[in-house]
Amino acid sequence: MSERFLVTGGVPLSGAVHVGGAKNSVLKLMAAALLAEGTSIITNCPDILDVPLMAEVLRGLGCEVVLDGDTVAITTPAEPKYHADFAAVRQFRASVCVLGPLVARCRRAVVALPGGDAIGSRPLDMHQSGLRLLGAHSEIEHGCVVARADELQGARIRLDFPSVGATENILMAAVLAEGETVIDNAAREPEIVDLCHMLIQMGAELSGVGTSTLTIQGAEKLVPTEHRVIGDRIVAATWAIAAVMTIGDVRVTGVNPKHLSLVLDKLATTGAEIDREPDGFRVKQRHRPKAVNFSTLPYPGFPTDLQPMAIGLAAIADGTSMITENVFEARFRFVEEMIRLGSDARTDGHHAVVRGVPRLSSAPVWSSDIRAGAGLVLAALVADGVTEVHDVYHIDRGYPHFIEDLQGLGADIRRVA
Ligand code: UD1
Repeated sequence: MSERFLVTGGVPLSGAVHVGGAKNSVLKLMAAALLAEGTSIITNCPDILDVPLMAEVLRGLGCEVVLDGDTVAITTPAEPKYHADFAAVRQFRASVCVLGPLVARCRRAVVALPGGDAIGSRPLDMHQSGLRLLGAHSEIEHGCVVARADELQGARIRLDFPSVGATENILMAAVLAEGETVIDNAAREPEIVDLCHMLIQMGAELSGVGTSTLTIQGAEKLVPTEHRVIGDRIVAATWAIAAVMTIGDVRVTGVNPKHLSLVLDKLATTGAEIDREPDGFRVKQRHRPKAVNFSTLPYPGFPTDLQPMAIGLAAIADGTSMITENVFEARFRFVEEMIRLGSDARTDGHHAVVRGVPRLSSAPVWSSDIRAGAGLVLAALVADGVTEVHDVYHIDRGYPHFIEDLQGLGADIRRVA
């Protein structure tokens, strides 16, 4: 039986918590190390399982990878292997970010298809069509994305949707293509900006960084570098929402508050006092939060990864909230678990209407993915009695020291086998 958390609700969170490097950045930065022969060093890596798993993927491609605390050193050979096999890739879907770098370095890539997950289907069509426009042939063969290119030629690529993963793969292929590539409707999440900064340090010529039009002048080769991962804005915002829900007072450090502008503004409309600081922020809530509507959108919109926490907040807010999910089709599935905790929520397609209740009541609930699990724990923090949250290995995938951080803020939570 997998581990579970026992959470006794009712304690206002207070104190300070520090967040580590962003999960959604570090894996792409590690993949970017494939782009240059030699040793790249990445610091401020979060202590989550995906980092050693990504190290395994890179070792399978011929790299030497040394993990030491929050630092990873990746030595890439002159000729990396191009086949990322199923055993390594199936364990986490983000490993598909090696596709672009492999096509760039080896002119060839075979990457096992990671498959969908609990939040909905996750096709790779935009990754493939971008690579095709750069001159690669790309097909799905025997459960793998296969890409081959005699040469990569810069191109104008317009994405149907600002996909984070497709932008990253196309960007990492284009840095070693011949000539200019323009990605229109590119995603502009802070993690993509982080990747751009690392690529620039490696010698890539990029402009439009942080905008939806990224222009890349292809280089013949890149050089290894040292780079510090940005702070995890999703983890930071999880603690902010927890402070609002529990009527607490929490200071979060290790994150750029500009990466959470819209989220912090939304929390202010619940009545929270927000102080932005150079390396984080402080959230203080003095009364039951007021209901607010949320609509998830690509950055700078409200992050889909915070939608489950927004549902948790809406569950106990004063008033009715409408939450709209525009990014992942199946991300409302976990709402059934919220209802088990007493939330008055109804979903219809990509809308959820949540009527806030003064208090939730404990029940056994099951996490289905990282963020749904975190959303359920937040709800458990304001539920009467002891809530059992099952399948917490999902939460551990995205939150280093989840229990310890919450305990440090005064929460009554413990892990049991
Ligand atoms: C990344 C994040 C994830 C976050 C998401 C959206 C990582 C490791 N994960 O996921 O936490 O929730 O961004 O901010 O960084 N799509 C297609 N075809 C494609 C690619 C995507 O239809 O080729 C669709 C997806 O099904 C989804 C939407 O586009 O509906 C957004 O996906 P995308 O931005 O690509 O998310 P990921 O990069 O997978």
